[in-house]
Amino acid sequence: MKLRLPCLCLLAVVCATTGFASKEKPVIGLSLDTLKEERWQRDRDTFTAKVESLGGKVIVQSANGDDTRQVRDIEALISRGIDVLVIVPHNGEALNRAVKAAKEAKIPVIAYDRLIMNCDIDLYLTFDNVKVGELQAKYVADHLPEGRAARVVRVFGAPTDNNAKLFKQGQDNVVNPLVAAGKINLVFEDWAQDWKPENAKKIVNAAITRNGKEIDAIIASADSVAGGVVQALLEEGIAGKVIVTGQDADLAACRRILRGTQTMTIYKPLKKLADYAAIAAIDLAKGNKISFTATIDNGFKKVPAVFQDVISVDKDNMQATVIADGFQKASDLK
Ligand code: BGC
Repeated sequence: MKLRLPCLCLLAVVCATTGFASKEKPVIGLSLDTLKEERWQRDRDTFTAKVESLGGKVIVQSANGDDTRQVRDIEALISRGIDVLVIVPHNGEALNRAVKAAKEAKIPVIAYDRLIMNCDIDLYLTFDNVKVGELQAKYVADHLPEGRAARVVRVFGAPTDNNAKLFKQGQDNVVNPLVAAGKINLVFEDWAQDWKPENAKKIVNAAITRNGKEIDAIIASADSVAGGVVQALLEEGIAGKVIVTGQDADLAACRRILRGTQTMTIYKPLKKLADYAAIAAIDLAKGNKISFTATIDNGFKKVPAVFQDVISVDKDNMQATVIADGFQKASDLK
């Protein structure tokens, strides 16, 4: 897999050992930013099932997008005597103190899907987030209008999520040369706080108020925000006429793609990530070796990391990808 993230160096599969004692039935704390989006429910369920199949137990906390609550959740998990802590941070900059408290209690920490900055984490597991952004923008680049610049709006994700910056970085890699070549005109762009559809809808409303309805494509960074984007387009009577990107292959997004109101999404095989995290969590709890394929600098150290690959999906390959993998059922998509 090609990786072009800053401060990241590819290694052969490398193994590291931890100094923690072997546990009979490890207890893993899972602290989630939110469970409101479909993908995180699936991550939780897959991770929990795998940990249980390996003889462990999971205690789940969800912070509902609130930093203070997530810190409290983590403190509560630590005081319940968990063996390993797995975190999907709401804000990758705000959890250093909580991670420090876990490490002081000798609890290894895994950052799940989103990086936590400037602290001592043991492992970071995610997807190739730069490639996600590149594939979103490439879809638009492959469908440019003839003889004029495409009018493109971008709706980025939560500014508190390091991934949102990586998705933008990937989009920039593809879009910036096309802007320079006069093939794309970026007419409006903004960040959707907390990845909320209602915030994305407001961004599209503002884009239309300022520039009118002549939009060729909206690069939405994920399916959650794409939901709000499509709602705004439906209200303006132009849904289906504008390319809309997304990410996650959520059920609602796959349905929109088949109906034609959203154009593409990115399929991220969550099972690979969740299973890997579960195996690593149990290994860390038992003091076994954990394997990783890269490292990434989080400002504190070079964190051992694993990046899973992603797939671009539209209505033409949905059957061969999302449905064939059992990620969504064909019967649910009718
Ligand atoms: C994840 C995406 C998700 C977004 C909103 C990002 O960090 O990588 O898969 O759509 O958060 O929850």
